[in-house]
Amino acid sequence: MTKPKSHFACQACGYQTPRWLGRCPDCGTWGSLIEEREPRGEALRGGREERGPYAKPQPITEIEEEAESRFSTGITELDRPLGGGVVLGSFVLIGGDPGIGKSTLLLQASANISRSGRSVLYVSGEESLEQTRSRGKRLGAWSPDLYIASETCLEAILEQVEIIKPQVLVIDSVQTTYSEALESAPGSIGQVREVANRLMHLAKGRGISTFIVGHVTKDGSLAGPRALEHIVDTVIYFEGERQHFYRILRATKNRFGSTDEIGVFEMTEAGLREVPNPSQVFLEERPLGTAGSVILATVEGTRPLLLELQALVAPSLLAVPRRTAMGVDYNRMSLLLAVLEKRMGLRLGTCDVYLNVAGGLRVFEPAADLAMVAALISSSRNLPVDSGTVLFGEVGLSGEVRAVRHVEKRLHEASRLGYCRLILPRGNRERLRETLNLELIGVRSVEELLESLFPIKN
Ligand code: TYD
Ligand code: MG
Repeated sequence: MTKPKSHFACQACGYQTPRWLGRCPDCGTWGSLIEEREPRGEALRGGREERGPYAKPQPITEIEEEAESRFSTGITELDRPLGGGVVLGSFVLIGGDPGIGKSTLLLQASANISRSGRSVLYVSGEESLEQTRSRGKRLGAWSPDLYIASETCLEAILEQVEIIKPQVLVIDSVQTTYSEALESAPGSIGQVREVANRLMHLAKGRGISTFIVGHVTKDGSLAGPRALEHIVDTVIYFEGERQHFYRILRATKNRFGSTDEIGVFEMTEAGLREVPNPSQVFLEERPLGTAGSVILATVEGTRPLLLELQALVAPSLLAVPRRTAMGVDYNRMSLLLAVLEKRMGLRLGTCDVYLNVAGGLRVFEPAADLAMVAALISSSRNLPVDSGTVLFGEVGLSGEVRAVRHVEKRLHEASRLGYCRLILPRGNRERLRETLNLELIGVRSVEELLESLFPIKN
């Protein structure tokens, strides 16, 4: 009898080697190599029947034009990051932390899709039929064309697909699904890749729009499968803090549309609710006349958003003062603190500093710098910033304020929500023709920002 062949595969990047190593030579991760048996028989590439006919090469000029056909999920905030609805035969990965709401979202979307006349097969490898039923009942995800299966074996799922012939397939999650062709454990890189590959062939061969759920590991990467991101057409991450109600859907890869679009949701008792006017919601609970709170005009994709940024600067009792950034980049905050110390003589070395984006959102564009600086100055001087003021702009290392993109969008959003005073980079101010009846204050440096934040009244 011959010994079955095996190799060691890095669970982080997919690198393969015949010998065990402590550290992956490709991505440098320690202890990530796990033994995997070589597939039996016809594994890996997918069965012939899943794949459909082999494609014959054609001259580019003779390829028939196909109208890209899309359908709605019935959830506008989900259609948006998908690029305007689900493309027929597309393969979409929904990633996110456990408990963020992936299953809820997909169950709600599945019910909507099935109600609009397309059959959906929702396969849960994590919950029983009864659990999914009771959740569906509570969410109002209730439709006779929505089929639920509780299954983790890929081959069994493919058999069910043959029988039910769904137009949309949901696999929740890729980490719990395994193929009998491989001997490695579910969730290992080999399994994840095999499952994804076979489902991709199914999606493309049969035109079944497929959603797969992928859990994210602690460091923020999709568990193991970097490889997965290459296989799918669209990658959408579900973000948000579990303790907060708001959730953001963000496309990081999309073969069928822009990757910048976001969808905003609120987690309620009855599942996820769309938030069509996020700026208003995020600013609802804003305290007025409080030092350290400012409004930032940010742009997510093509969508402007007004958010509240809060800073708290307080004398520290610790030898090494605390620095905490929630929703903003920690390094960016450190950099801005250094600029404030150096350029404006603010003594922050003995202070604890906290920065927070209200509502649990994350903002990583440099255009948030000016608002961060303003919030920090306001808190450290204990002077509130005028509550009708909105800020945006990038701050450089010498304290200069640099121009940013999408200025008109930010202005329109501020004006729409009734704000009348904006502090923005001078470079942007000079190029603006339309002012929308707003008071626009162009600043060139953080020193100038200080003057316009707290104008001396006489
Ligand atoms: P879930 O969709 O199961 O998350 P995931 O599939 O990403 O792991 O969502 C689980 C969380 O959402 C759970 O903590 C409870 C909360 N939740 C609500 O608040 N309301 C609801 O109607 C549902 C279904 C879940
Ligand atoms: Mg789930």
